[in-house]
Amino acid sequence: MKITYIGHGGLSIEVLDKHIVVDPFVTANDLAKHLDPNEIKADYILITHAHFDHIVDVELIANRTGAKIVSNYEIFMHFNNKGLEGHPMNHGGSWQFDFGKVTYTNAVHTSSFQDGSYGGNPGGFLIETSEGTIYIAGDTALTYDMKLIPLMATLDLAVLPIGDNFTMGVDAAIVASDFVECSKILGYHYDTFGYIKINHEEAKSKFSAKNKELILLDIGASINI
Ligand code: NI
Ligand code: MN
Repeated sequence: MKITYIGHGGLSIEVLDKHIVVDPFVTANDLAKHLDPNEIKADYILITHAHFDHIVDVELIANRTGAKIVSNYEIFMHFNNKGLEGHPMNHGGSWQFDFGKVTYTNAVHTSSFQDGSYGGNPGGFLIETSEGTIYIAGDTALTYDMKLIPLMATLDLAVLPIGDNFTMGVDAAIVASDFVECSKILGYHYDTFGYIKINHEEAKSKFSAKNKELILLDIGASINI
């Protein structure tokens, strides 16, 4: 499994020859100007919630690639009404896709579309594949529900928001990594806006002080698990 950070809350995951994009926010992200969303491959687009900074490039990518939209029912219907195909889910539900099993997990946040319309409740994704298992928390506070994750799967990587203000910050993410029982963390949802700028070295040293590894990828960079 190869995971590429496409900026903010966005990931591009290559697993079993399938390409999965999560929460694409590239064209409106000043920090991701060097990425071309027209070059992002996608068989599926997983969307955690309806906020603008998680869906801005969904239609662009889906219209070009024919990628299937996977999200909660309301977000699926929003895009399905625009002619995009996909798969609706909701909290606690799992589905076996051709790349692996996806569970839509709980998140504590909000989920309105930019025009104020209802985007269902926000979530995250647990993705279990033969090449590895990852938890993508989505935009969320630290929540006790994270303790449910290790009851379902053993993680190789946890992708956690660390930017604070709109989501949990570094200190809460360290507790979250305890709750999900994973010591390898990919941080996301930081630096994009003034409210969520963080000190990278301080964040990494706080994790390493707890014998955990915080990975902060340059936008466009990848890791293999
Ligand atoms: Ni959000
Ligand atoms: Mn966000």
